[in-house]
Amino acid sequence: MRVLMICLGNICRSPMAEAVLAQLAPAWQVDSAGTGDWHVGQRPDPRTLTVLKGHGLATAHRGRQVRSADFTEFDLLLGMDRNNLRDLETIRPKNATAHVRLLGAYDPTGESEVPDPYHEADAAFEEVYVQVERCCRALVAKPGITGR
Ligand code: 4NP
Repeated sequence: MRVLMICLGNICRSPMAEAVLAQLAPAWQVDSAGTGDWHVGQRPDPRTLTVLKGHGLATAHRGRQVRSADFTEFDLLLGMDRNNLRDLETIRPKNATAHVRLLGAYDPTGESEVPDPYHEADAAFEEVYVQVERCCRALVAKPGITGR
């Protein structure tokens, strides 16, 4: 499986999701990208790095913007929220082969969006972690393309 995690800035949620999934599925190709371009080349938000470290994880990721080749080079593009999906739809090339879903479509508790923590308190980043890890574990246990 080749999975691309996607959020808005590619500094908070999607690099966290990338690090979590890469750890759970070492044989998969896992990357992350943002729909926006403000943080291209930047390291993840310090709050994301702190939460990852607290769970024994690290990342070398640098921000990048999603590109049309991602729609053929990955099997699954997983957005954190519905705005991400809407933005992806506007750049989806005609020859796209990737499936585009919410990461939360895999959430066994039924939650569907991973809310943007950028303007929130530090605790929101730990909440993102818990949600993302739950979804990634479910994805790895049942790596199909979910319809939800
Ligand atoms: P992310 O959070 O999408 O989880 O990386 C954000 C980071 C930066 C911005 C928005 C969301 N921003 O507007 O710069």
